[in-house]
Amino acid sequence: MGAQLADGADLEAAEAVKLSDHARRNRAEWNAWAAEFVEPGRRAWAAEEISWGIVDTLESDVRVLPDVAGKDVLEAGCGTAYVSAWLARRSARVTGLDLSDAQLATARRFQQEFGLEFPLVHGSAEAMPFADESFDLVVSEYGASIWADPYAWIPEAARVLRPGGHAVFLVNGTLLVLCMPELEAEFPAGTRFERPYFGMHRFEWPDDDSVDFHLGYGDWISLFTATGLEVDDFVELQGKPDAEPSRFNLFAPEWATKWPAEEIWRVRKPR
Ligand SMILES: C[S@@+](CC[C@H](N)C(=O)[O-])C[C@H]1O[C@@H](n2cnc3c(N)ncnc32)[C@H](O)[C@@H]1O
Repeated sequence: MGAQLADGADLEAAEAVKLSDHARRNRAEWNAWAAEFVEPGRRAWAAEEISWGIVDTLESDVRVLPDVAGKDVLEAGCGTAYVSAWLARRSARVTGLDLSDAQLATARRFQQEFGLEFPLVHGSAEAMPFADESFDLVVSEYGASIWADPYAWIPEAARVLRPGGHAVFLVNGTLLVLCMPELEAEFPAGTRFERPYFGMHRFEWPDDDSVDFHLGYGDWISLFTATGLEVDDFVELQGKPDAEPSRFNLFAPEWATKWPAEEIWRVRKPR
């Protein structure tokens, strides 16, 4: 396992592995965006209930997470690490992994503020600095799940999971990715397909230098099968009509009442 960020020993860990071109670009963008995620991160750390995504669906309504008490959990692309904090409070032994030192610095600050310590590791989910079969759950909410190449991070998740372990991760809804305008100035998503479904994989957008990843359903399932994972559940989150528009403005609340703007996969490594 990589050394914890808290002891300052492995600030170079993300450099030691050869980062992909998109990982370098995403690290630079996330270091620049980190300041905008401090206040939302603080609110999420303060929340008692586990919730998912922009539509803010309670875990108690979807029950997609396995029991985490006493389990080893990796959050892949933890950002400010509020998901890790929620699971640590439920007696999981969590580790947060992230590519951005600025995001991890916020996570470390919140650990002190909220009095909750767990390892924070600086590295890429595309080359996880962990031994085979060392976790019972790999979780990601808009972390590695959309910012790392699934053809790199899903095999890594499968490798570090113990037999019987799960990966649970939230991604943008496939229909949303197809309907999202190219430019942020033209958000939110409309009801017209803006791009083809076949061939979905790596996305670059004109407004910034980041790269994100989205697959079609058949490609996700083929990838799980190829990496020895089985689909356990797939939850299409539905928005509430009275929801406030989100600060990201990717979709209007009403859009998310009609089409899934966010989706959660739960896959399992067989025993
Ligand atoms: C949106 S944050 C996710 C955290 C949190 N759930 C949230 O929604 O704010 C995305 C995080 O993914 C991280 N990330 C991007 N690519 C990564 C990679 N290859 N490995 C690990 N983390 C990565 C970024 O540094 C960023 O902190």
